[in-house]
Amino acid sequence: MRTPLTSIRGFSQTLLSSWDRIDDENKKKFIKIIEEQSNRLINLVENILTVSKANAGNIVMKKVFINASIKSIIPMFQEQYKNHKIVFIPQNDLPPARLDEDKFQQIMTNLIDNGCKYSPEGSIVTITTEAKGECIIVKVSDEGVGIKAEDADKLFKKFSRIENHLTSKAQGNGLGLYITKQLVENMNGMITFESEENKGTTFIVKFPVYNEEEVLKCSQKS
Ligand SMILES: Nc1ncnc2c1ncn2[C@@H]1O[C@H](COP(=O)(O)OP(=O)(O)O)[C@@H](O)[C@H]1O
Ligand SMILES: [Mg+2]
Repeated sequence: MRTPLTSIRGFSQTLLSSWDRIDDENKKKFIKIIEEQSNRLINLVENILTVSKANAGNIVMKKVFINASIKSIIPMFQEQYKNHKIVFIPQNDLPPARLDEDKFQQIMTNLIDNGCKYSPEGSIVTITTEAKGECIIVKVSDEGVGIKAEDADKLFKKFSRIENHLTSKAQGNGLGLYITKQLVENMNGMITFESEENKGTTFIVKFPVYNEEEVLKCSQKS
């Protein structure tokens, strides 16, 4: 949390104290950094609040059309990660899911953010949706560093980060996937991943289809 704040304060101070000496291009660059770091801080605070409320059950399950929900947040990511291409391939006529939409977007934010952070500039992050039986499946794939099989257990633990040549460059605190898993499971879903080192990673999230009669669950076997 300190890193984004330090840079927001630093660039604001520089702009204020040296306004007349900085050319327009650099002013714009500094303000852009302040904007990016503010976004990062907002996501981080959102995640920290979730940890502190993780078991409080403040989840509001509703009928959510996932394709529209994903579509609405993609421009924000494309803006933040200009050097990646973010591609969304929705399944047509996808049935609605039973979800808390804010929490769903927080999940997507964490997964897309990771997909961009742990892959090289110029690569593609692909999001797909599909319905299968009583579950809606959302996949977030990247062409990045990948995750070693032996690190799989660490991944979803609180504050755990895994060393790779991008972790030192990418800001993070190891909370994202911990929270993501908790949120997914609190909404009767499940999360898994497939990965090949230096080829890429796909996170797979399943949520139950919305159904008037009964509350469905997506577990390992479905
Ligand atoms: N898409 C991905 N590709 C490769 N490694 C990943 C990916 N997503 C997560 N990781 C690894 O898992 C660790 C934990 O992720 P996360 O909980 O989101 O924490 P953070 O992003 O803050 O480091 C990361 O530090 C990274 O090493
Ligand atoms: Mg993360």
